[in-house]
Amino acid sequence: MKKICIVGGCGHVGLPLGLVLASRGFEVTLLDINKNAVGLINRGIIPFQEEGAEELLKKEINKNLFVTDDADVVRIQDVVIFITGTPVDEHHNPKIHEVLNVVEKYLPLMNKEQLIILRSTIYPGTTEIIEQKLQKHFNTRPKLAFCPERILQGKGIEEIKNLPQIVSAVSDEAAKEASEIFSEVAPKIIRLEPIEAELSKLMLNTWRYLEFAIANQFYMMVEDKGLDFYKIFEAMKEDYPRAKNYCKPGLAAGPCLFKDTMQLSAFYRNQFFLGQSAMLVNEGLPNFLVSQLEKKLGSLKNRKVALLGMTFKANNDDIRESLSFKIKKELEFKLADVLPSDPYLKDTYKLEDALSKCDAVILGVPHNEYLNLKIDKPYVDCWNVWK
Ligand SMILES: NC(=O)c1ccc[n+]([C@@H]2O[C@H](COP(=O)([O-])OP(=O)(O)OC[C@H]3O[C@@H](n4cnc5c(N)ncnc54)[C@H](O)[C@@H]3O)[C@@H](O)[C@H]2O)c1
Repeated sequence: MKKICIVGGCGHVGLPLGLVLASRGFEVTLLDINKNAVGLINRGIIPFQEEGAEELLKKEINKNLFVTDDADVVRIQDVVIFITGTPVDEHHNPKIHEVLNVVEKYLPLMNKEQLIILRSTIYPGTTEIIEQKLQKHFNTRPKLAFCPERILQGKGIEEIKNLPQIVSAVSDEAAKEASEIFSEVAPKIIRLEPIEAELSKLMLNTWRYLEFAIANQFYMMVEDKGLDFYKIFEAMKEDYPRAKNYCKPGLAAGPCLFKDTMQLSAFYRNQFFLGQSAMLVNEGLPNFLVSQLEKKLGSLKNRKVALLGMTFKANNDDIRESLSFKIKKELEFKLADVLPSDPYLKDTYKLEDALSKCDAVILGVPHNEYLNLKIDKPYVDCWNVWK
């Protein structure tokens, strides 16, 4: 079976893919610069919330799955998959060099026979730039593919096995080899050209971000007029099939949706007004929630506010780009005394303590632990779980 190395293999996307590939018989090496994560995974511990990962890890570790921070392993692989972060900078422009630097770092260890797969969510045109770098280095056309990851964080193991895999490549040979690998895990392969595949992933995440922005904009518009948003929302959707997937308001946070909308905006020379507006709406929701509480309490000065749920989404332990921290900052700016609480995070208040000590509550994210609470103090809950 093929030897596959995943660069960034201890991350939220690399690890589930590595586990699934190992479970299909590939010899997988997770290569990562995060020594702490490498140590944990080698001891059978998954460093973050990922359904079904621990069982798979216990089965595969040191059989089909190996974990290391030693870059030299790249030399002996048939396939090298890159899945490192693709952030935007403080001006919301993609930091393309972060991806290029990672590939360049491992270039001296790679050879022209290897299939190289890019799997990060990249700025359109990045595959072509990397193709040129590889071509210059190998002095021949590289076997390069771009196969975007589309999993829902935390449910990656299940989704990798159930979602069709988009495969694009710079040559038919690379596309064929990449398709052969993903056919072992995904139910279906969909072929695109690299630029199309790059755009498909950005357009998917941006579409989700816009959906949330619509819901959030309507929520703020209606609640600001003193009306009950959810009364209208539920009436509008009831037995009306076309509104089945109309999504609820909520904090649209996390490491992907915002930055991918901004990547798409940069691609369209910052003329993507809909995306920019969605960013303003979604990023404005924390301020709106704090002002809703302020209306209820009069002033927030010296008031104790329990902030329930600090991660970026429900039932997950990831705090990357969580908007709950923006709510916390806004509350502190109003001189409130914030009591952050989250069952997934150490160093936050216990739920009972936060609720007993506070004057009011804001629901940050609707973890299951909060769904059946009876709150007997003023609260703000844009998710409508305490209706
Ligand atoms: N998180 C998601 O749900 C999700 C879903 C689909 C796509 N993506 C995309 O996948 C990519 C990775 O996201 P993620 O959430 O897994 O990020 P992550 O930060 O969880 O993982 C990236 C990993 O790369 C490692 N790394 C960084 N530089 C390295 C280097 N030079 N050599 C080896 N390892 C290195 C880091 O230590 C980290 O473990 C991003 O482009 C993201 O947009 C993420």
